Amino acid sequence: MRDDQTGPARDREGRAAREERGRPPRRIVVVSGGGIAAYKIPDLVRKLVRAGHSVRCALTPAAASFVSPLALQTVSGEPVRQSLLDPGEEGQIGHIDLADWAELVIVAPATANLLARMAHGLADDLVTTVLLATRAPVLVAPAMNLNMWDHPATRQNLDILRSRGVHMVGPDSGELACGWEGAGRMSEPAAIAEVAESVLCPDTLAGERVLITAGGTREALDPVRALTNRSSGKMGYALAAEAARRGAEVVLVSAPTNLPIPVGVRRVDVESALEMRSAVLDEIDACGIAICCAAVADFRPAEAASRKIKKEDLEPDAGLRLELVRNPDILAEIAAPGGERARRVVVGFAAESHDVIGASERKLARKGCDLLVANDISRRDAGFETDTNAVILLEPGAGPEELPLLPKGEVAARILDRVDKIRGERSSRS
Ligand code: CTP
Repeated sequence: MRDDQTGPARDREGRAAREERGRPPRRIVVVSGGGIAAYKIPDLVRKLVRAGHSVRCALTPAAASFVSPLALQTVSGEPVRQSLLDPGEEGQIGHIDLADWAELVIVAPATANLLARMAHGLADDLVTTVLLATRAPVLVAPAMNLNMWDHPATRQNLDILRSRGVHMVGPDSGELACGWEGAGRMSEPAAIAEVAESVLCPDTLAGERVLITAGGTREALDPVRALTNRSSGKMGYALAAEAARRGAEVVLVSAPTNLPIPVGVRRVDVESALEMRSAVLDEIDACGIAICCAAVADFRPAEAASRKIKKEDLEPDAGLRLELVRNPDILAEIAAPGGERARRVVVGFAAESHDVIGASERKLARKGCDLLVANDISRRDAGFETDTNAVILLEPGAGPEELPLLPKGEVAARILDRVDKIRGERSSRS
């Protein structure tokens, strides 16, 4: 899916990409309660549609004061339902049709009132009737004043809903529309869409612990300067998000990036290659899958100056000679053959500017990993600092598979599909 695409072409591509991965587009009903956060719902619907899903919306009477039904109709491409008693809408007992049609119901914003009505099984308007009638999983995104959020009545209602298997996302903390500051802001549409994917996604990695390295390491020269590289960390973070979505417990060992921690992921922050190695060695024993996506500096300054290197301390006009020493190869170390290694799937990355397949095949053999993901960094639309990537997957004893240019989230899904396949083959052999 290209980022510069808009409209139906982009939505169709979203759907095609899902089909190709064996993750069909899903039918999602978004119901909204009457809170100010409802103004963000067109953005949520747009994100779900772009991801390839079909979306229908229903509003409580109060919600329609905060978000325009026409805006929702435009982004979903479907009529918006508001009334239980509308003879036109209810021609075919529409509320039951909507409840049966849904493969997931998202309640956003879920106000204190709507949560209470859900918890107690009321069905006095279209939204609560759909919620009572549906057999689909339900994801709620609460939004309310923080005192309402903290009230024992709301707490008990949430406990009731959780005990019935209702999924929750948020709320976030921050400035609230009522002027208070604290917990009660509805999660951002991107986070809600992300959690919706994990509710819909098959739990192929449930019970598995996955270690992922990401970002470009920083090798200090002195307290203000460092040697680093152009890695943004986006590919590693996309892998972490996708692994969490598939039910894994994810540890993301990350060099500095500007990226938010993906939902459900534990991040361990590091700077240098040596720090990354020691964090990886602390975590690796408990992990059945390791994916080394970080751009680890191969060399570091032999000595990092403890004080800032000052020009006035050097000869006038003199250059500066740096002595670099080798960093340990973290991937090679954890992929080294051995008892533990035999049960772990290890994935490496290769950044190559020329002879991509040849160099990657040699790297696969040299590093001893189970899967190597090769990047052609000479392309401008793939590799470092981009949102898309075009990679080649190499496994020992199998021909290379070249994937088309895809968003990094899709590439992450393809890589984890391949990891699933390797694990499946291993368990059928043993
Ligand atoms: N890697 C690592 N530790 C290092 C260097 C690299 O774990 N000190 C991992 C990276 O995370 C990546 C893979 O090794 O998964 C390949 O890194 P790359 O820099 O492309 O290859 P190198 O082995 O460093 O070889 P070269 O620089 O000669 O291409």
